[in-house]
Amino acid sequence: MPRILESVVVTKAEDGWHMVPFGLIQENVDFIVAPFRPSPSIDNLQRHPFLSAAAPADIRVLAGCVTGRRDWPMLPCERIDGMRLADAYSHAELEVVALVDDPMRPRFRCRIVHTAMHRPFLGYNRAQAAVLEAAILSTRLHLLPAEKINAEMEYLRIAISKTAGPAEEEAWSWIEEKIGSALKAPT
Ligand SMILES: Cc1cc2nc3c(=O)[nH]c(=O)nc-3n(C[C@H](O)[C@H](O)[C@H](O)COP(=O)(O)O)c2cc1C
Repeated sequence: MPRILESVVVTKAEDGWHMVPFGLIQENVDFIVAPFRPSPSIDNLQRHPFLSAAAPADIRVLAGCVTGRRDWPMLPCERIDGMRLADAYSHAELEVVALVDDPMRPRFRCRIVHTAMHRPFLGYNRAQAAVLEAAILSTRLHLLPAEKINAEMEYLRIAISKTAGPAEEEAWSWIEEKIGSALKAPT
């Protein structure tokens, strides 16, 4: 299996900047960004083949981006025409060097043109990992049965109850709310 780094990606839209979490798939020195269609990020990368990818310092950014809260502060990139998440441990600036098109999931091969560190990484936290997993789960609700979603949330909640600080608690509540209303909605 390839190594995948979960990142906060910013692409250039026609009317501003588009921030979403994506898993960057490592392939030797390159990273593959593979958005499922339909996706504004695909259109953005075809128009403007540059992106930033940040390791968020606040897990609420990941949870926020998939629950309708995308207005997180950004800063200009240093080497590309781009913006990046401000509150990041580090970020990379990348250029698309090839595209393998696909009706379901095109793959943009990206090469790093610049990286920068912004603050010390002090350690892992189980609640952050649980929020990350739940955030991904919340984007796949249409693909999974309710029992599986409920079972995964129940398991992830253990890490939240044992290790979450206020930021992780808040991020978790956004995702619980999204999943709760999706499961309650008539199908
Ligand atoms: C940590 C994380 C990683 C994700 N990775 C991907 C990915 O690699 N490809 C994808 O299509 N969606 C991925 N998603 C879901 C997208 O972020 C979500 O569907 C988003 O709305 C798509 O962005 P768009 O506005 O460009 O369509 C991920 C979500 C999270 C929370």
